[in-house]
Amino acid sequence: MNIRYGTPEEIPALLDFWVLAAEGTDRRDSPDKVAALLERDPQALLVAEIDGVTVGTLIAGWDGWRAHLYRLAVHPGHRRKGVGSRLIKAAEERFAQFGAFRVDAMVLHDNDLAHHAWKAAGYAVQPEWGRWVKPLTP
Ligand SMILES: CC(C)(COP(=O)(O)OP(=O)(O)OC[C@H]1O[C@@H](n2cnc3c(N)ncnc32)[C@H](O)[C@@H]1OP(=O)(O)O)[C@@H](O)C(=O)NCCC(=O)NCCS
Repeated sequence: MNIRYGTPEEIPALLDFWVLAAEGTDRRDSPDKVAALLERDPQALLVAEIDGVTVGTLIAGWDGWRAHLYRLAVHPGHRRKGVGSRLIKAAEERFAQFGAFRVDAMVLHDNDLAHHAWKAAGYAVQPEWGRWVKPLTP
C-alpha cells in the first residue's frame, strides 16, 4: 500500500469514492470545495492506494494552529487490513512536522465502526468539551 497526496485531477473520482466509502458525507461536497482545499494545502488530502487503485482517504487539516482529521474512509472491500490505521499514522506524522501537540477528529456518536478504529489508534472522547456550531449562510 502506498500513501500519497490527492491531486486536483482526481477530485471527481474522490467524490465518487466518498459516496461509496465514507460515513456522513457532507451533501455540500463539491469539486470546487475540494479544489479549494488542495489549492490552500496540497498535502492535506491523503490517499491510500493499492496497485494504483484508491482504497482509502483521510483529510489531515493543519490550519496553522491546530490539527484536525476529516473524511477517514476505506473502501468496504479493503477494511480490517490496516488501511485506516496507516492513514491515521501518516496524518500524525504530517502534523508532527508542524509541532502539533494534539489532533482531533469529528466522529458521529453512533458510528460504532469508526469508534473501533479511532480507539485502536489511541483516540478517545474528550468528555469535558462539546461542539458548538452556527450555520453560515451567504
Ligand atoms: C472506520 C474505517 C475507516 C476503519 O478503516 P479500516 O481500514 O478498516 O481500519 P483498520 O483495518 O486500520 O483497523 C484498525 C483497527 O481498528 C479496529 N477495527 C476496525 N474495524 C473494526 C470492526 N469492524 N470491528 C472491530 N474493530 C475494528 C481494530 O482494532 C483494527 O485493528 P485489527 O484489525 O488489527 O484488529 C472503515 O471502517 C470505514 O471506512 N468506515 C466507513 C467510514 C467511516 O465511518 N469513517 C470514519 C468517520 S469518523
